[in-house]
Amino acid sequence: MVDDHTLILNRDRRNYTGLGVARDGLLVANGQKWARNRRLLTPAFHFDILKPYTNVFNASADVLVAKLKSKAASNDRFDVFQNVDTNPYVKAVNRITDSLVQRFLYPYMLFDFIFYKTSVGRQFKKDCNFVHSVAEEIIHKRKNALDSGENVALEGKRYVDFLDILLTARDEEGVGLSSLEVRNEVDTFLFEEYQKRCQQEVDQVLEGRDSDFVEWSDMPKFEFLTQCIKEGMRLHGPVPIVNREVKEDFEIGGRNIPAGSIVQLNIWALHHKESVWGPDHMEFKPERFSPENVDKMSPFQFVPFSAGPRNCIGQHFAMNEEKSVLAKLLRNFTFRIDTSHVVKKNLSAVMRTVDGMFMYVEERKA
Ligand code: HEM
Repeated sequence: MVDDHTLILNRDRRNYTGLGVARDGLLVANGQKWARNRRLLTPAFHFDILKPYTNVFNASADVLVAKLKSKAASNDRFDVFQNVDTNPYVKAVNRITDSLVQRFLYPYMLFDFIFYKTSVGRQFKKDCNFVHSVAEEIIHKRKNALDSGENVALEGKRYVDFLDILLTARDEEGVGLSSLEVRNEVDTFLFEEYQKRCQQEVDQVLEGRDSDFVEWSDMPKFEFLTQCIKEGMRLHGPVPIVNREVKEDFEIGGRNIPAGSIVQLNIWALHHKESVWGPDHMEFKPERFSPENVDKMSPFQFVPFSAGPRNCIGQHFAMNEEKSVLAKLLRNFTFRIDTSHVVKKNLSAVMRTVDGMFMYVEERKA
């Protein structure tokens, strides 16, 4: 019996990933379940659904701008990864991913009866319960609203969001997602969303813009910003490694890989491979992603969102969010890195830092 907090290490991709947080969400589900849920969720990422999110992106960016204004006024340095967002949900998710990494590093912790006796294990359980309760409360409220005929979302009185799609989606047999399935998907999305928000490329993508509210139609106009974001994701990929379970024997580079093996795809290493990116692969050069250069690229040389059928379902959402938040930040502020602090990478489920990445922020004069 596998409970919500169990990490089991066998050769199954889902379990190997070991995310007790959302163990059957799209990110870690398998086979038919994955195929069905991916089909049910795909409409949630249609451009028409993503479009009204510009309001959410702008409103969230305004909150961030207000927080940074106080940092600018006091001339305090701030940690890009910690200080700005002190949301307890974000903190809990960060602790959860850190403790998963610890379990891999200290194999004795893989045994549940040991793990849950340690302080890390006890905190893990507490954090899992907390993030589940947050997700459940959100689902519960929305479900009640939808059930009580208050079908506001679907009648277009406000924007339709992921949760509306999850709660109303039906497969060919008319069967919807169960409550646990919905929660697993909500956990997965919250996790992705929060974890990846403040990635390191923020400190490199410092290009200004005039308009305050970032419109959907502005997105394709941010050509250089997009190149900077992509180069940031190449240099410091938010998801450094993905794992796959091999379904059939195959051969690669003269080696036989038997079915059942777990293959780790090191995206970070691919994005730094000298034969692909050149000897200057550690340098930040957004022009690598100019249209002429992109035309010459292999479709599998730059894969921050992975590739193939299990690629990131949220990639357009993520790119648009990054563009609009960065545009607003850059319109308001000039950022300066605290070079006295050496940034060390912390390879967690997503790339973070060991002890922060510090910046100073200054308000731009109109
Ligand atoms: C910069 C931001 C993001 C990056 C770099 C990123 C990257 C990735 C990568 C590499 C995968 C493949 C993981 C694997 O195969 O193990 C993935 C899958 C996934 N991502 Fe993202 N992601 C981002 C943002 C988002 C957002 C904002 C959402 C949701 C709103 C999201 C939802 C998902 C889901 C549900 C999957 C699993 C898809 C499947 O297996 O069918 N991601 N992402």
